[in-house]
Amino acid sequence: MIVAIDGPSGAGKSTVSKLVAKELGFSCLDTGAMYRCIAWKALREGVSLEDAEALGAIARTCRISFVHGEGEVDARAVLVDGCDVTDAIRTAEIDRAVSKVSAVPAVRTSLVEQQRVIGRAGNYVVEGRDIGTVVFADAEAKVFLTASDEERARRRVAQNAARGIGSTDFDTVLADIVARDERDSARAASPLVAADDAVLVDSTDLSQDEVVARICGLARERMR
Ligand code: DC
Repeated sequence: MIVAIDGPSGAGKSTVSKLVAKELGFSCLDTGAMYRCIAWKALREGVSLEDAEALGAIARTCRISFVHGEGEVDARAVLVDGCDVTDAIRTAEIDRAVSKVSAVPAVRTSLVEQQRVIGRAGNYVVEGRDIGTVVFADAEAKVFLTASDEERARRRVAQNAARGIGSTDFDTVLADIVARDERDSARAASPLVAADDAVLVDSTDLSQDEVVARICGLARERMR
């Protein structure tokens, strides 16, 4: 079974997906991390973010793997060609580069293929932008998770502060979030949009527990 969770950055998808997966006994796949891996490798190799062909080649040839601890739903580390990039893919530099990378159709085709192979191997909560519309258009449960721009910026600042990575200036983070949403929603290839059959969950005024309970309720309904 696939539970697809899509939505803009900072809506709480990552945290919520992990908690939902834990509660349901599913595994969890963070597809955004895969786009970040391609951006990381492109920057490291000095590949231009305008060079769609070279970016497509990276997506086809690099090996992205998720390392799971025994019994853990969530990946403990992300590797690119064996190199641990868990923290390196969360910098502000990658935040800015990744929308360009994820707008390249050849990159998307290659990563979507890999996501389907991973997800169909078991019961998965898959989070991203195009999971319910493209990757698993036949997912049993689909959620579109949103929150107001300001609330998402507040959460991202807290997350960055806790991780010690990225900006903790509210206005900078808010501007980055709004700009990234715009690029993600306006791109031609699989823009960020809710699937027709997705359940909309606005988490602005909901606690994390309430969001998780709502999504688990929907998933359990669809299991029957
Ligand atoms: O969820 P995130 O912030 O880690 O995602 C990183 C970028 O990748 C974001 O700009 C949108 C893009 N993305 C995408 O285009 N499709 C996905 N399924 C997941 C992420």
